[in-house]
Amino acid sequence: MAIEATTIEDPDAIRTSATHQGGTIHPVWVRVTHWVNVLAMLMMIGSGWQIYDASPLFPFTFPSAITLGEWLAGALLWHFAAMWLLVVNGLVYVGLGLWTGRFRRKLLPLRPGEVIADARAALSGHLSHADLSVYNAVQKLLYLGVIACAIVIVLSGLSIWKPIQLRELSLLFGGYDAARYVHFFAMAAIVGFIAIHVLMAFLVPKSLRAMIIGR
Ligand code: HEM
Repeated sequence: MAIEATTIEDPDAIRTSATHQGGTIHPVWVRVTHWVNVLAMLMMIGSGWQIYDASPLFPFTFPSAITLGEWLAGALLWHFAAMWLLVVNGLVYVGLGLWTGRFRRKLLPLRPGEVIADARAALSGHLSHADLSVYNAVQKLLYLGVIACAIVIVLSGLSIWKPIQLRELSLLFGGYDAARYVHFFAMAAIVGFIAIHVLMAFLVPKSLRAMIIGR
């Protein structure tokens, strides 16, 4: 099976496998930044929905029961406060991911053929979760994709926040109005990711344990 071949033959995977790191699957900086990110994302999404409701882009609004901030001004305060947590924490995660070589080892290479094979195996219930220290190709795609969405949501958010001062950035997204749509669709992609991701975490509880205690 594709995933097992990857696990056994990839020398990088063997070097980073749990047994070679004294049993630690996720180093402490990954776990801390992951859970801080969850908190920041929940605050950003909840307050973002409240801000959206004040001036909807589409013919629907989010029920106030699932929004944060109670009204526009309150939601803006939440959004700008959580923004710092999200950005600083994200910079630490991406910085350490690049500097330690974790991204290269764990998330690359990403081969379309392996994504298709692993997606098929996952849908037919044949994907191995035996070695949690090696991500399958679908996980790699989803994690790289959500990291890219997080970068896009921050940059499009900055260009909505300061469209005059950050004019070039705003123009990169096609101007203020287009940046609002980009910001919305990046949110929708992240919410879609979270739904699948949380479901998977509870279907494979030992992966959740590893993201909490490291092994
Ligand atoms: C309550 C919500 C969440 C739960 C329960 C959760 C759980 C987990 C678990 C168990 C893993 C390890 C996966 C594995 O070893 O197979 C993981 C990894 C990861 N999660 Fe989450 N997660 C949550 C929210 C999020 C959010 C909101 C994001 C980003 C928007 C996110 C992004 C990631 C990424 C990028 C990884 C890979 C980290 C790395 O190895 O560097 N997660 N998550």
